[in-house]
Amino acid sequence: MQSAKIVGLGKYLPPKILRNKDLERMVDTSDEWITTRTGIRERRIAEKGLGTSFLAREASRIALKRAGIKASQLDLILVATITPDTQFPSSACYLQNYLKAHSAAAFDVSAACAGFVYALTTAWQFIESGLYKNVLVVGSEVLSSITDWSDRSTCVLFGDGAGAAVLTRSTTRKSFLSSYLGADGANSDLLILPGGGSRHPASEETLKQKMHFIKMKGNELFRIAVRVMVSAARKALTKAHLTTEDIDVLIPHQANERIISAVAKRLNIPQGKIYVNISHYGNMSSASSAVALCEAWEDGLIKKDDIVLLDAFGGGLVWGSCAIRWL
Ligand code: ACO
Repeated sequence: MQSAKIVGLGKYLPPKILRNKDLERMVDTSDEWITTRTGIRERRIAEKGLGTSFLAREASRIALKRAGIKASQLDLILVATITPDTQFPSSACYLQNYLKAHSAAAFDVSAACAGFVYALTTAWQFIESGLYKNVLVVGSEVLSSITDWSDRSTCVLFGDGAGAAVLTRSTTRKSFLSSYLGADGANSDLLILPGGGSRHPASEETLKQKMHFIKMKGNELFRIAVRVMVSAARKALTKAHLTTEDIDVLIPHQANERIISAVAKRLNIPQGKIYVNISHYGNMSSASSAVALCEAWEDGLIKKDDIVLLDAFGGGLVWGSCAIRWL
C-alpha cells in the first residue's frame, strides 16, 4: 500500500487588519450590511509590494517545521493561487528559491477558491503514483492587489493570507479517501479578472476600464455555489463509501457565511462540525480552505481518525471536495 498523508500545517496572515468600519470610510457601505449579508467583520491586507510567495514562505516554514521535514527533502512544490507574484515565473518557483528547496519541482495551480483542493488532490496523486515522496501544497493569495477599492460589491469580501500543508508517503493506512473535482467554463464570466492576459493585454484602455480588478456577479454565483458545493460533497463522500453522518469536521470554502449555512443545512451537518473563520479573514480564495484546515487542527477540532471533508467553489467555475481520514 502506498498513499499520502498530511504531516504538517501552517498559516500566515498579514498583521494589517481592515475592519468593516474602515470600509465605511472608503465606499458607500455599512458594517451592518457586510456582517449580515456575508458574516465578514474584518480581513487582513498584505503590505504593498509583498508578493504571494512571501506569504506562502511564512506559512510553509511553519508547516515544514511541524512536519519535521527539511525544505531540501521536498520533491514538489504546488502553489494554488490566482494572484501570482508575476504572470510568470510561477509563485511556486519563487517559493522554491525562498525555501532553498533545490530538489523540488515547482508549479502553480490556478483553480481560484477551489485551488487548494485541486492542489491537494494533485499532490496526493503524485505521491500515490510513487513519483514523489514529499510534497508542499500552499494556498496563497494577495487578493488586495486585484480588488477594486471603489467597488462596494466586491471590495468588502476579500482578504490576503496563506495556508500550507506538507504531504508525505503513507505505507500503513489510507488518509486521502476520495476527491471529486469539477468545472464549468461556460460560466467563466460570473467571476473574472478580464485584463492583463493574452485576450486583453495590459494597455491604457484596459487600465481605464479597470479590467485588472475582480469582476463578480455575486447573486448568480451564490445560488450556484450552494448547489455545487452540496453536490461535490455528496459525490466525494459516495466515492469514499461514506455518508454525511461520518463527517467529523467540514471545512467549507469561506466566501459567505450564508452560503456555508445553506450548504450545511442541505447536507444536514450540525453547526458544531463546521469550521468557520470568515468573520476574521473574509474570502481569501485558495488560501481560505488552507488556513481554515490549519486553524481547525490548531484549535484541536481535528483528532486522530476523524473524517475531514474539504468543500470548495470558485471562479472558473470550479469546485472540489476531498475526504481525508486524519492519521
Ligand atoms: N454595502 C451595501 N450595499 C451593498 C453592498 C455593500 N458592500 N454590496 C452590494 N450592495 C447592495 C446592492 O447594490 C443591492 O442594492 P439594490 O437592491 O439597491 O440594487 C443590494 O445590496 C443587494 O445586492 P446583492 O448583490 O443582491 O446582495 P447579496 O445578498 O447577493 O450579497 C454577495 C452579495 C455578498 C456578493 C453574495 O451574492 C455572495 O456572497 N455571492 C457569492 C460569492 C462567491 O461565492 N464567490 C465565489 C468564490 S470567490 C473566488 O473564486 C475568488
